[in-house]
Amino acid sequence: MDDPVTMGVRVALAIGTAKIRRIERHYQQRPAEAEKEYALPSFRALSKPIREAARRFWSQRAWSEYAAVPALSQILLKGVQEKVPLGETSALTGILHDEALHTRLSQQAADALGGYLEDVPDDLAYDPYVYAAPTASTMIEALVTGGCLGETVSRALIQARVQRTTHPELRAIVARTLKDESVHVAFAWAVAERVVPTLTQPERRSLARSLEPALRGAGRSNRASTAAARSSQGKLRSMVADAGLGSCTPDEERAVVTRLFSSVLLPQLRRLAIPV
Ligand SMILES: [Fe+2]
Ligand SMILES: [Fe+2]
Repeated sequence: MDDPVTMGVRVALAIGTAKIRRIERHYQQRPAEAEKEYALPSFRALSKPIREAARRFWSQRAWSEYAAVPALSQILLKGVQEKVPLGETSALTGILHDEALHTRLSQQAADALGGYLEDVPDDLAYDPYVYAAPTASTMIEALVTGGCLGETVSRALIQARVQRTTHPELRAIVARTLKDESVHVAFAWAVAERVVPTLTQPERRSLARSLEPALRGAGRSNRASTAAARSSQGKLRSMVADAGLGSCTPDEERAVVTRLFSSVLLPQLRRLAIPV
C-alpha cells in the first residue's frame, strides 16, 4: 500500500504523461485569482524562540524556492539551444513564474514571523547564486536532475509539510505551492518521456552518470554542509514542525525522500531505460 505522499506523486506523474500542451494551456489561462495575496497574522502570540525558528525556516524556504529559478532556467536555456518544441519552453516560463511567486510567498511568511533573512548562510547547500552559474550539462541532464528529481523531491516534501502544518494561513500557502509543484513534476516527466527514448545507449549511460551525485544525496534532506549546522538545522525544523508552522522534522523528511527514491524515482528512471 502506498502512503499518501507516494500516491500524490504517482497521481502527478500520471497527469504529466504526454500532456505538455495541457500544461502550457494551464499557464496561459490561469485565472488572476491564482495570484491572490495571503493575509498573514502578526504571530506575536508565539514565543520568541519559536517565532525566530519559524522566521529562519521560512527564509530558507524562500532561498530554496529562489534556487529553483536558476536551476529550471538552465533547462530553459539548454532547451532553446537544443531547439525543443515551443510548447515546452513556454510551459517552462510559466513554471519559472510559479517559483518566483513561491519565493515571494515564503518571504511574506518570514516577514510576518519577524523578518525575512536576506543572507544565505555559507553552510547551507541551496544557494541560488551557485545554481545560476553556467553549466556544461545538456538539456536532458538539466531536466532529469533539476526537474524529474529536484521537483519530485520538493513536491513530496511539500506534501508532507501540508500534513504537518496546522496554522491556517501558512497551511494555505503550503497547499497552494503543492498544487503548482504537481504541475512541475508532471511537466518534467512528460518531457523526459519525449526525449529519453530518442537517446543512444552511450547518451543514456552519460545521463545516468550525471545523476550519480543526486542519487548519492538521496535521503539527505538536511542540506547543511557541516555537522554543527546540521544539528542546529535539525533543532530548528523540529521546533517549527511541533508548532505546526510549516516544517516537518528532519526524520520525517528523510523517511519521505528515502521512500520516494526507492518506490517512485528509481523505478521511473529505469522504466525510461536510464541505467541507474
Ligand atoms: Fe516551488
Ligand atoms: Fe517547482
